[in-house]
Amino acid sequence: MCGIFAYLNYNVTRERRYILEVLFNGLRRLEYRGYDSAGISIDLNSNSPLVFRQEGNIESLVKSVYHDVAATDLNLEESFSVHAGISHTRWATHGEPAPKNSHPQSSGAGNEFLVVHNGIITNYEVLKETLLRHGFTFESETDTEVIPKLAKFIFDNANEEGDQSVTFSQVVLEVIRHLEGAYALTFKSRHYPNELIACKRGSPLLLGVKDLEEEASAGSSFGDAKFPSSNGQPKELFLSSDANALVEHTKKVLVIEDGEVVHIKDGGVSIYKFDQAKNNHGGTLSRPASVQRALSILKMEVEQINKGKYEHYMQKEIHEQPESLTTTMRGRLIRGGSCKAKTVLLGGLKDHLKTIRRSRRIVFVGCGTSYNAALAARSIVEELSGIPVTMEIASDLVDRQGPIYREDTAVFVSQSGETADTLLALEYALENGALCVGITNTVGSAIARHTHCGVHINAGCEIGVASTKAYTSQIVVMAMLALAIGADTLSNQARREAIIDGLFYLPRKVKEVLKLDKEMKDLAKLLIAEQSLLVFGRGYNYATALEGALKVKEVALMHSEGILAGEMKHGPLALVDENLPIVVIATRDSCFSKQQSVIQQLHARKGRLIVMCAEGDKASVSVGGSSRVIEVPHVVDCLQPVINVVPLQLLAYHLTVLRGYNVDQPRNLAKSVTTQ
Ligand code: F6R
Repeated sequence: MCGIFAYLNYNVTRERRYILEVLFNGLRRLEYRGYDSAGISIDLNSNSPLVFRQEGNIESLVKSVYHDVAATDLNLEESFSVHAGISHTRWATHGEPAPKNSHPQSSGAGNEFLVVHNGIITNYEVLKETLLRHGFTFESETDTEVIPKLAKFIFDNANEEGDQSVTFSQVVLEVIRHLEGAYALTFKSRHYPNELIACKRGSPLLLGVKDLEEEASAGSSFGDAKFPSSNGQPKELFLSSDANALVEHTKKVLVIEDGEVVHIKDGGVSIYKFDQAKNNHGGTLSRPASVQRALSILKMEVEQINKGKYEHYMQKEIHEQPESLTTTMRGRLIRGGSCKAKTVLLGGLKDHLKTIRRSRRIVFVGCGTSYNAALAARSIVEELSGIPVTMEIASDLVDRQGPIYREDTAVFVSQSGETADTLLALEYALENGALCVGITNTVGSAIARHTHCGVHINAGCEIGVASTKAYTSQIVVMAMLALAIGADTLSNQARREAIIDGLFYLPRKVKEVLKLDKEMKDLAKLLIAEQSLLVFGRGYNYATALEGALKVKEVALMHSEGILAGEMKHGPLALVDENLPIVVIATRDSCFSKQQSVIQQLHARKGRLIVMCAEGDKASVSVGGSSRVIEVPHVVDCLQPVINVVPLQLLAYHLTVLRGYNVDQPRNLAKSVTTQ
């Protein structure tokens, strides 16, 4: 939620137009994080920052900036050998989408301090009251506005007390001492031209470094003006909420840690820790020593973040699933030779498998699609591990302070690895002493860092707000988790081997099911004007029903509900008539005959049925009339949800396009929900 992007060119001449375009492109890459308003700050000259803010998406901002620039005769060709620009794309939390609530938020006239923020400041009301008492006035309804105002207050006080040499990082360290909540922040100031400060607690932020002359080697540490050195070498530095926006510029990044302040000045970078700046009793601002950190190299390629031949990211990501699943399983499936047993290898878990096997319970925790993926894998984990599995929606676990014990293994499933609700649940489980396992798609994310061990799903970056390829990769990772936990049990060896074979052939089967694209588009044409869609599933495919309905709801903006078919007679049957379209998932598993009778009962009430069955089962599920049948490839039961969800993803995609909605940026949503 909310994206931050900043660009600083040092000792390399860049025109204003170029600087603007770098910032706009950064925001375009981050737009999936929020798209209800956006803003930017560049310099008129070194001590006059200009601010542009606009309601709407990034293109509205771009248009309005170029319009304002033309209206004011601002020279786009003017060049700067050093310049610091910041930008932001917003998903509103406090205050409606409007220019005044967009970021950068300002300290007031003259833009002495400007801040872009991702997260929530929970104590902003108290801070606001204090600042109001000191004569500050507020323009916005945001929680963020207190931050630049507090910076000005601290800066002015230091100056009044005669501390003329107060540095930008000292001011920011003092600001942070007063902030509670979650944040990633970037500061720009008229008092510190051509400098930027970034810091974070909870929300993600990365620094990208592009040395324009000398390739600085990976793993070099950098601390106070050491690396990148301030030796005058031309360089470009970027701050971003996501690696997506960095990879086209550089692969050398510093993943800023919680509790760190990064100060960019004179082409050098200094890193400070907040906690070293605590206990500032002396009146003067603290001057903590800087720390050394190592750069890492991004493994991402630029092609991954482009749409290629597809019109939308969601479409691309649906069609990428044969490859993403292959990457998820790469190096992890051991099919052995003639004498070797088939098995799986999950390196991130190997030192913890014994503890997991001894757990009293496995608790899956996640939100939305990630929760659904865990639900799809629940039965196979129970079956192969023999350990009871309970399901927890992250926010509900925290709301109830539900029981989590030392003897539990809690598995946190999150594509982004940054979801605030899941992170809070993780904190809670850690406090309660459970072994915490992370399953994420984002290396270096908060969930990956704070869990005891885990598995990366390696699905490649997912940009469409609606999760598709991450979902199927999550299920596969959890099936592999089940195989790894159950690997020491002889009695289920044949079953395990059948699943490993199934995993091996899965990408090929997904390729086959993708051929239903045209059929699902035709179905979407039929359903285009419907108000509502029900999806009935059970067993392994209850999760498919929930996930299919979630996709339709979130992108096609059509009411849709996933229903456990076993519950049909206990209420939902009342909805059934000849108008309401109902998808029934009736692929082959132990629930097949029960689903056949569900179909009969729905048909008896004149239900308008769309039945999903395994290839060759058409006759067994057909009830005639206006009902339709979608045949999908058959795979081993516990992997069938990976196949079955694909036609529903395609249906949601086509419905959205046909209904004229934004597929990649559904209304009111954003990826990476870093606020509660
Ligand atoms: C829906 C969707 C969301 C996310 C949920 C959790 O398509 O993507 O329901 O699954 O917000 O996000 P992560 O997986 O990043 O924790």
